Amino acid sequence: MTDTPAPAVRLRADVLAVPAYRQGATPTKPGYKLSSNENPFPPLPGVLEAIRDRGDINRYAAAAMPDLRAAIAAQFSVGSDHVHIGAGSAALLYQLVQAAAGPGDGVLFAWPSFEAYPSLGLASGAENIPVPLNDRAEHDLDAMAAAVTERTRVILLCSPNNPTGPSIRRDAFDRFMQLVPADTLVILDEAYREFVTDPEAVFGEHVLGLHPNLVVLRTFSKAYGLAGLRLGYAVGAPAILAAAASVAVPLSVTGLAESAALAALTSESQKEQRARIAVLTERRDALAAGLRELGLDIPVPQGNFVWIPQSARVDAASLAAVFAEEGTLVRPFPGAGVRISVGEAESVPVVLEVVRGYLAS
Ligand SMILES: Cc1ncc(COP(=O)(O)O)c(C=O)c1O
Repeated sequence: MTDTPAPAVRLRADVLAVPAYRQGATPTKPGYKLSSNENPFPPLPGVLEAIRDRGDINRYAAAAMPDLRAAIAAQFSVGSDHVHIGAGSAALLYQLVQAAAGPGDGVLFAWPSFEAYPSLGLASGAENIPVPLNDRAEHDLDAMAAAVTERTRVILLCSPNNPTGPSIRRDAFDRFMQLVPADTLVILDEAYREFVTDPEAVFGEHVLGLHPNLVVLRTFSKAYGLAGLRLGYAVGAPAILAAAASVAVPLSVTGLAESAALAALTSESQKEQRARIAVLTERRDALAAGLRELGLDIPVPQGNFVWIPQSARVDAASLAAVFAEEGTLVRPFPGAGVRISVGEAESVPVVLEVVRGYLAS
């Protein structure tokens, strides 16, 4: 990152061994940014108004955020004490893993999955236990259940899975939960839940009440398009959430984010939101269909992105480089595949053209 010589400060060797989370690239020339699973729609007018009206940024926000927690709790039919707010669901992942896992413990997750997962075990001194996805790019829940040991303290389930797309099916989730010890924390990371169209998928709101060791994570960054404001939430047993809160960075959720989220949850905003989500899921399915017509094996996309697996015809790094030359940024996972976010309508034919050209060359 820099040529400045390292000072003689002793840093943790395990930390130095792991690279920092890598954000999706930012465009340097005009084109489409399809590298961070962002929402291409601008914020809703009601949300912008709420931010403009929030004048008290000389004050800390009231950390308890009772109105926002009540609004979220109502969606899950739980009490407000079952909701914990964080500065993005990424912050909540760190808190929950730190609350449950320490040195000598294990953190189990599917791989490839959300790129921040390996940092979670690292930050808490626990061991990461990645379990490869199956050949349909889904969680291999049988292999994950078999990998659980007495040391496993946290299991991360990502549905739909970032970066590959499929969601976890409800029947497979139910079977898996029967095999997981009741004292192991299971986090169902549903950052892309609003984009799921598969009725057979597991949905946090349907299973939360069945498993006291389950915490569901959601975010305002994706479907709600508030990535830049950093707001996510966890829903689960108050005792687990209280432990997470104990390791939270104090006062990191802003009042601006709170006001925006409340404005995004009004029934009028929700209606507008649903219409936008329908546009994005249709666009996603059209993009996947177009890629399949080019002969590619595209896993079922259930988030706001599609996945092109590495194959004899596709090298992830070189395909991403060709996209970048054309001014479109996508996310390569070298040796594994390329993730392409669903962006502006005009980006779909551009993506298909770039891939067509790449396959032909
Ligand atoms: C699966 C998954 N979980 C969590 C996050 C974190 O989102 P945020 O911190 O913006 O809520 C992301 C972001 O890309 C994600 O893909």
